[in-house]
Amino acid sequence: MAHDVTLFSGRANPALAADIARHLGVRPGRCTIDRFPDGESSVRLDEAVCGREVVLVQPTAPPVNDHLVELLALADACRRGVARRITAVIPYYGYARSDKRHNELEPIMGRVVADLLQSVGISHVVTMDLHTPQIEGFFRAPVDSLSAMESLCAAMRPRLPHDFVVVAPDAGRAVLAARYAQCLGAEVVVLHKRRTEDRVETVRVVGDVAGRSCLLIDDMISTGGTLAQAVAVLLGKGAKPDIVIAATHGLFIGPARERLDLPAIGAIFVTDTIAPTQRDWPKLHIVSVAPVFAHAVKRYVEATTGDRSLS
Ligand code: R5P
Repeated sequence: MAHDVTLFSGRANPALAADIARHLGVRPGRCTIDRFPDGESSVRLDEAVCGREVVLVQPTAPPVNDHLVELLALADACRRGVARRITAVIPYYGYARSDKRHNELEPIMGRVVADLLQSVGISHVVTMDLHTPQIEGFFRAPVDSLSAMESLCAAMRPRLPHDFVVVAPDAGRAVLAARYAQCLGAEVVVLHKRRTEDRVETVRVVGDVAGRSCLLIDDMISTGGTLAQAVAVLLGKGAKPDIVIAATHGLFIGPARERLDLPAIGAIFVTDTIAPTQRDWPKLHIVSVAPVFAHAVKRYVEATTGDRSLS
């Protein structure tokens, strides 16, 4: 048991937080989180944090604004309680897709979130598969940007067919697809998509998928539209109807399950960065990334304090 570290969880994914705590050998800290009648977040620490190394675990998953405010409130309580340092483990970083302006009248919410987190005393962030790596540059504080790739590849290997290609659903995922391909010893295919006002349209396929099985990768599944459309394009180009999907963050909003519950999709692998909502879906496999987060926290605490008591 580490003597100096207290880990608190917000309400977004307590199971993941408990798993990270178990891997670190620390007891989860006690706090009470609720909602005032008017909808405001009510957060209270139920133990002192003075002088302690604090780790807060909270993916800013839907409902994104509520979970973000909970995290800010937890951090502020720790800062005012004179915690020595505050690390935020944010397995899924909400607003990451707002990382640039598409026109001069839009905000950059990914940056706003980074400013808010630092304004309440968070001095270290641990996250996973950011939508774009440059979000790290929105922070002055150090950011550990982890990858789910090794965990997902290890889980998928037994399920992958013999002759498969790794497919990026758009140019933004081409680098990620190349990494998966290298990890798994496969070729890469890239789909190019164009966004119009109200829909996404795939315009070009770079690579050959005829008669091949496909592993389709992405950073996140939100409404499932991107991947459903990619599947349709791959099948249209003659890919085998045994497609495997891998994505780090499984949000599964609205029609996502319906869109992806296709006979041509054999399996879907996501991690537990977001609390699973579709456990009754036989083709969905949820891969734990708690050990990856625990390892990053342990490495940070050891490197910066010399404390080697974490397991
Ligand atoms: C887009 O750039 C992202 O990488 C994902 O492909 C996208 O956000 C997924 O959203 P949806 O599942 O709603 O298509």
